[in-house]
Amino acid sequence: MRKKIVAGNWKMNPNYPEALELLHYLNNNIPREHYNVDILICPPFIYLSEAQKLFNRTDIYLGAQNASSYTNGAYTGEISASMLKSMRINYVIIGHSERRQYFGENEEVLAKKIKLCLQENVIPIYCVGETLEQRNANEQFDIVEKQISGALFDLSAEQINKIIIAYEPVWAIGTGVNASPHQAQEMHMFIRNLIMNKYDDTISRELIILYGGSVKKDNANELFSMPDIDGGLIGGASLKGEEFVSIINTTKNIVNK
Ligand code: 13P
Repeated sequence: MRKKIVAGNWKMNPNYPEALELLHYLNNNIPREHYNVDILICPPFIYLSEAQKLFNRTDIYLGAQNASSYTNGAYTGEISASMLKSMRINYVIIGHSERRQYFGENEEVLAKKIKLCLQENVIPIYCVGETLEQRNANEQFDIVEKQISGALFDLSAEQINKIIIAYEPVWAIGTGVNASPHQAQEMHMFIRNLIMNKYDDTISRELIILYGGSVKKDNANELFSMPDIDGGLIGGASLKGEEFVSIINTTKNIVNK
């Protein structure tokens, strides 16, 4: 059975006092009984250590939003997977569409990042998804297949077992227009099939696939109830404490798949 995950990606937000306030709110308001859902918060690097000190509970996990494709050394401004590990940060978002779009990250670089994270036992949440133009041209499946095969298919069965995938259609990110549950389910099933064809049925059945793109408390339940959707990677709504907690609460009656 796959576990469900609700993850918040704060992106490059907010400033320090607001971050502290939000962390306090989450620490105090995320329900202690959260229905078999793992909660993950991915603030900017600079707040990770503060968040770690502040959370006085062990049921809220922390993740980073990026890791270097280099191991260590003279790479000014970079943060390595081994640094994350040494700080006990066990998750990292890799290949978010914003990193692909604004920082030129391609599958070759992302494959390196993923391998370094796996070497350090930091779990990569690998993001994939098509642009609106690509969907309008009906290329979404080709694009996602290329993103997955290009960055993941060198991994061994043992390594792929540790990965989480997030399907985040670019046209749904920050737009208020989420993929419909049907559109998301269709892509999640496609991704699961890709993994089954390359690896095996058990690996594919156990793969956690999150949906991201304009998830809100009003659409979370319907999306997360779909058979191949195992939770969400939430941007804007994760910056509003109350909304994020409401999203967690919507998972209450969703059975594990
Ligand atoms: P929004 O929830 O703001 O659409 O962002 C989704 C996202 O990019 C999460 O990584």
